[in-house]
Amino acid sequence: MKRLAVFASGRGSNFRAIVDHARMNILHDVEVGLLVTNDAAAPVVDIARKNSIPAIHIEGIFGKKFPSKQERERARNEFDQKAIDTLKENRIDLVALAGFMQVLGPSIVHAYEYRTMNIHPAKDVRRFGGPGMFGERVHAAVLSAGEKESGCTIHYVDESVDGGPVILQSIVPVEIGDTAESLAHRILIQEHRTYSKAIQLHVDNRLKVLDRKVTIDWSGNWEEDWNRRQEAFIRSQMLLEPAA
Ligand code: GAR
Repeated sequence: MKRLAVFASGRGSNFRAIVDHARMNILHDVEVGLLVTNDAAAPVVDIARKNSIPAIHIEGIFGKKFPSKQERERARNEFDQKAIDTLKENRIDLVALAGFMQVLGPSIVHAYEYRTMNIHPAKDVRRFGGPGMFGERVHAAVLSAGEKESGCTIHYVDESVDGGPVILQSIVPVEIGDTAESLAHRILIQEHRTYSKAIQLHVDNRLKVLDRKVTIDWSGNWEEDWNRRQEAFIRSQMLLEPAA
């Protein structure tokens, strides 16, 4: 059984989807053991509480002003060190950033190298990712660039922002008349399906990173089995969202 920690700062719909996959026994050999947040008042904390998952708040730096760059770095390092200690104390094997509004520094990135994933709500992470690119800003940039498609990307976290080795992507077409909100909404539905798939691939030891590229071992009936198990989740999404 691998123990997963999710880092999140806001609404927490990706966290909820991962918890649902575990609860519905779609995710195998994965226990959602911890939520780490840098915002004690974030709605995601409530989701953890309702699902009896321990939630830990560590003072972060997102949205805060600091007197100097050094002070900001110091506060960030402090967060990272506390997070590493928390992960160790809780015997965490894998970390999933899900709407976590803070860049992790080198110490935690290396301590959990290729054991930390992130989700970004775009297909082209080079053009529509990086510092300051989060939430609706991403979708607004995709629309103003006139892209025909977008999507979501799950990648391992490295020292760059959104630039680590890509694990999985889901493509979502941009539709005529799309707003940042409508595009975000359709992509989110795919995010909720794709993140757990990436987690299961990792836990099943199907991912190898070579020269910063991820190769996936799809041998056997892995994907068929996954799709069959995930049907129940997709059905539950469609009940909430008939157009999904
Ligand atoms: C998600 O769309 C996620 O991809 C995005 O924030 C949203 C969080 O939603 N992350 C980023 O933009 C990171 N660069 P959630 O709190 O409902 O999971």
